[in-house]
Amino acid sequence: MKAGVFDSGIGGLTVVKSLLGHKLFDEIIYYGDTARVPYGSKDKNTIIRYSLEVSEFFKNFDIDILIVACNTVSAYALEELRDSINIPVVGVIEAGVLSLENQIKNKKSNILILGTKATINSKKYKLALEEKQYQNITSIATGLFVPIVEEGLEKTQILDKTLEYYFKDLNNIDAVILGCTHFPLIENKISSFLNNAKTIHSGEAIVEFLEKNYNCHQKHTETKLNFFASENPDSLKKVAVKWLGIKNLII
Ligand code: DGL
Repeated sequence: MKAGVFDSGIGGLTVVKSLLGHKLFDEIIYYGDTARVPYGSKDKNTIIRYSLEVSEFFKNFDIDILIVACNTVSAYALEELRDSINIPVVGVIEAGVLSLENQIKNKKSNILILGTKATINSKKYKLALEEKQYQNITSIATGLFVPIVEEGLEKTQILDKTLEYYFKDLNNIDAVILGCTHFPLIENKISSFLNNAKTIHSGEAIVEFLEKNYNCHQKHTETKLNFFASENPDSLKKVAVKWLGIKNLII
């Protein structure tokens, strides 16, 4: 099975990491719209337009499924992508909500949703959780985490101060949805700042979702990887080598 993975930039590699870890696909075609990232500060129409343009790229490949790794695109453009491309299109929000539901049974638990400004403004996670009767939901747009990860500042005081800035008024958080591709890279820092709150990781959630709903199962062969980007694909490939811990890229 061949999957397309779409992200606004490099962050979706965190989802690829989970897909590789579980060996769900024979081949993955990754596309990062690095020329136009970030999507998280754009408006709805722009996010939809960019997403539809990217779907044209994927039509050049014979993919069986399109995985939208980007939370921002998952919040705004899933329906449009489904209308545009004639294969299953899965997003990370539905998967994340189901994963949370599997792990957090008490509907009075304190749930924290983190994401880009666009994802938080869409209220997609919040409404889906309310529909499942969760009562104590807090949402925060934590966009500063994105450049902190991209600049490799995870181990600096800049991250510590930013965590303090965003989270200083929070108490007793039970679970936190890492509603942005970059946040799994600072998962431990976020969780320990919040007294070891449980974390919901888009990559692991989508694996669970694919296994359950799309009959995807662990393969015995390595996944062939292809990386494309709208700008500077070599830089994306370098990040892929680093984040995914892979030695050779089949390009
Ligand atoms: N990939 C985006 C997301 O998961 C984060 C980066 C951006 O703003 O484009 O929402």
